[in-house]
Amino acid sequence: MDKQSVHGMWSSRTAFILAAAGSAVGLGNIWRFPYLASDNGGGAFVLVYLACIALIGLPILFAEVLIGRHGRQSPINTLLSLARETGHSRAWSVIGMMGMLSAILILSFYSVVAGWTLHYGWLYLAQLFGGAGIEDGPATFGGLLGDPKTLLFWHSVFMVLTIGVVALGVEKGLERAVKLLMPALFLMLILLVIYGVRTGHFGAAVEFLFTPDFSKIDENVVLAALGQAFFSLSLGLAGMMAYGAYLPRDVSIPQAGVSIALMDTGVALLAGLAIFPIVFAFNLDPAGGGPGLIFTVLPMAFSDMWGGALYGLAFFLLLMFAAWTSSISLLEPPTAYLVERTPLTRRSASILAGVLVWAIGLLSLLGFNVWSEVRIGGRDLQGAIEFVASDVMLPLGGLLVSLYAGWVLDAKLTRKELPQLSDGLYTAWRWSVRVVAPLLVLFVLSQKFAG
Ligand code: PHE
Repeated sequence: MDKQSVHGMWSSRTAFILAAAGSAVGLGNIWRFPYLASDNGGGAFVLVYLACIALIGLPILFAEVLIGRHGRQSPINTLLSLARETGHSRAWSVIGMMGMLSAILILSFYSVVAGWTLHYGWLYLAQLFGGAGIEDGPATFGGLLGDPKTLLFWHSVFMVLTIGVVALGVEKGLERAVKLLMPALFLMLILLVIYGVRTGHFGAAVEFLFTPDFSKIDENVVLAALGQAFFSLSLGLAGMMAYGAYLPRDVSIPQAGVSIALMDTGVALLAGLAIFPIVFAFNLDPAGGGPGLIFTVLPMAFSDMWGGALYGLAFFLLLMFAAWTSSISLLEPPTAYLVERTPLTRRSASILAGVLVWAIGLLSLLGFNVWSEVRIGGRDLQGAIEFVASDVMLPLGGLLVSLYAGWVLDAKLTRKELPQLSDGLYTAWRWSVRVVAPLLVLFVLSQKFAG
């Protein structure tokens, strides 16, 4: 008989796809992807990124979701119960443990950046009521980073929003919100792409994003692209495992997985096509935009557009919503774990986990101003946390998931979770999690760190 999750279940296939796509589509697509592409040579980065999604991301996405669905609990307990069921070592639950740590670290800076979008939304709202608006993109952004009180305020607001939804249980508010908000975000991006086409610098943007200069591909570019593939698909920290736990048995994991990956990649590419025409139109240097890229560049377009304040407000609000549906999936695994392991209610558990994340977020936040001299490996505190969690811990987590699904789990078990695949495709999947994905991840990590 099929197990049910104590935390509730998705009401339908669409609900799962929306929630998982909501987790995948977030700041990673619209904030992180364009600035990484800009810092890593454009087309070269994009090409490696797309290859990582197809060759490594998709097979691991299937693996995470199927493990979650089989175990029906938070990732750590799912792995422990699988150990009891199949007799393998309990040590594999380290995947869940490490994943929870990555989720906490990622959410800590994610919430600070989501706070920036709230602040920008607020500035545009004020402009609609006669405020000054954003005249000088870089000056406004620099001013925000230098102002710990404002950063703290919006970081706290965003964490309260995240805790609020997780405390309520994911199905209720979220399923409905995502259905409405994701299409709106898509539409907004398309409007910006049209603006880009009209400014006349669209061709330059397409060339920058899609003409790979192979001489620019080095171990840093490849590692950044791999980390981004994991980050953007929400992989490697067992978050998709947590969402898979609430997935009804009759839903096809491969079909849902492919839809999620297509939506995620589509939004990232659209974001690139919306942002780079503006970068070129305003004669900015696409190299080295850094994390501030969209926050300095987009306001230039908005101040140039008729009704720009309204666009600005809508854009940053939608971006905040995209970040929200992702941050929920980052707080869910630690919360579910606390609910299973302690006498805490879901509400108290989400508050406890949320406060911990909020406190760690202060490191990133103060690293922009009070502790701006602190450098770890040439990065500020936020950059260092982002690098370790996204580019090192996520690929390592993905590597372990992949090996686990390919070598530890019995083929009978995984085959039963993927009945929709033809025998040929199933075999292809199994070998990609056994050999292809792990080797590629190991190769990338060793290029960067061994040499
Ligand atoms: N995928 C999300 C984004 O692109 C971030 C995220 C990473 C969410 C890992 C959950 C888990 O913004």
